[in-house]
Amino acid sequence: MHRPVRANDRLGRALLAIRVSGLYAAAGFLYHGCSGVSPETACAQEQPMKRLEGKVALVTGAGSGIGRAVALRLAAEGAHVFCVDLHAESLEQTCEAARQAGGVALAGRCDVSSEDEVRATVAAAVAAWGRLDHLSNMAGILRFDHFHDIALDDFKRVIDVNLYGTFLFCRESIPHLLKTGGNIVNAASTSSHAGLPWGGVYSASKGAVLAMTRSIAVEYGRLGLRANTVSPGDIATPMSKSVKMPQGVDFSWMDRCKALHGPRPPEVVAGVIAMLASDDAAHINGEDIRIDGGTLS
Ligand SMILES: NC(=O)c1ccc[n+]([C@@H]2O[C@H](COP(=O)([O-])OP(=O)(O)OC[C@H]3O[C@@H](n4cnc5c(N)ncnc54)[C@H](O)[C@@H]3O)[C@@H](O)[C@H]2O)c1
Repeated sequence: MHRPVRANDRLGRALLAIRVSGLYAAAGFLYHGCSGVSPETACAQEQPMKRLEGKVALVTGAGSGIGRAVALRLAAEGAHVFCVDLHAESLEQTCEAARQAGGVALAGRCDVSSEDEVRATVAAAVAAWGRLDHLSNMAGILRFDHFHDIALDDFKRVIDVNLYGTFLFCRESIPHLLKTGGNIVNAASTSSHAGLPWGGVYSASKGAVLAMTRSIAVEYGRLGLRANTVSPGDIATPMSKSVKMPQGVDFSWMDRCKALHGPRPPEVVAGVIAMLASDDAAHINGEDIRIDGGTLS
């Protein structure tokens, strides 16, 4: 029988509320200009609920973008969060932000495509607090190519990170999640559902993540484990800002990937994942939630 981890004290909660408001205020400043709608009204919750007290969560890709926002949101909701990323420095920044906000977080540097590292990382997370209740697989890479130019090694690397990495973390975590009645959220994409021009490799990986997650959901649902995906679209993160486009691209074709009301910050995804990780989603299993501002509607 697993013992819930100790809840944070009142001072921690107060500090956390102040910190989270500050983060959302910063997000509002950054994104107000691009959309005309403040994310404070669109997505932010100044004082997150405490739905995850006593829970332990593992988040991959926690050094940046959506993964970082998820780690901070889960910590804000009371979870002890084991943060995983390839880049130790950005990972430590995430953990420090969570701690400064009164949350509890540990860092575990790991290449999600390495079987040995994933095995050791899941073991370390479980050893840290004695249980695992939630897994968020957010680590991912994106590249754009003309399909007829894709090098096999480039194809393999995207699959290694986006699909094999998600597979490995699910496989290693499921025995622990079964003990706690836990759950998984994997990052799919709008490209799991609709064609993404020049994104053939990426969409192949994300379509597979969606299909794999549904199969996990039906295989383990009767045993009390839930597995869902989110399909973000047009989220303003380092990934979406820094991706390189191949020569000769007609950018107007990318309009099909744009949210109707413009890009949104990663907190819009983190809030949905916090709900899926909590008992509020007790009857949601094998579901995909598009968070794309109506792109594919
Ligand atoms: N931004 C969007 O609009 C969008 C849309 C659809 C899906 N997604 C998905 O959401 C997830 C998060 O994306 P993001 O936009 O926050 O990107 P991001 O680049 O900001 O963050 C991705 C993180 O994954 C980490 N990572 C990459 N390779 C890794 C590896 N081998 N091992 C461990 N960590 C690794 C990176 O270091 C980074 O911290 C990804 O799976 C992405 O495919 C994003």
